[in-house]
Amino acid sequence: IKIAILASGSGSNAQAIMNWARTSDMAEVVCVLSDKKSALVLERAATSGVPALLVRKKKSESRLDFDQKMIVRLADYNPDWIVLAGFMKLLTPHFLNVFKNKIVNIHPSLLPLFPGTDGYGDAFRAGGLESGCTVHFVDEGMDTGKIIDQKKFELIHGESFEEFKARGLKIENEFYPMVLEKLFKGLL
Ligand code: GRF
Repeated sequence: IKIAILASGSGSNAQAIMNWARTSDMAEVVCVLSDKKSALVLERAATSGVPALLVRKKKSESRLDFDQKMIVRLADYNPDWIVLAGFMKLLTPHFLNVFKNKIVNIHPSLLPLFPGTDGYGDAFRAGGLESGCTVHFVDEGMDTGKIIDQKKFELIHGESFEEFKARGLKIENEFYPMVLEKLFKGLL
């Protein structure tokens, strides 16, 4: 199974998936695409020997133009699945249609709670007893696609936000590759 990872930032999840794929007999990360020039994820990909693609959206371009640019670049690698890992743009129906039912994302909350760009922040401020992360299919909305699997973890009393977020991210890094493995094996 050929995976393309789309990411805009640090790429700890992308790194975890590249590490997992290297030891897996079923999956290969064929490229990592970022819309941000300074994204650490591009360096991580290069270091891991994975093609790192930068596709930026110009102000004058429409979302459709941008998605079409991504589609053209991705086509060189013929991916079966698109795995979003901290990719900070919504995808157009055109992109979703090209990779129909083959796009997944990880979100840092127990969806449908706290969608949006600050899942951990919103969960932390709400101060419940537990938080978690969700792997879901991607649709046109923001974090609204069908849920594939979730991992819960307790909030620790007295923990700072930074500690909470770092703990959550570490859990994501273990959880995401496991979910992909199960998904690709048809176990979900
Ligand atoms: C993660 O918290 C992920 O759930 C969210 O964005 C963050 C990306 O972190 N969608 P990283 O770039 O994988 O370290």
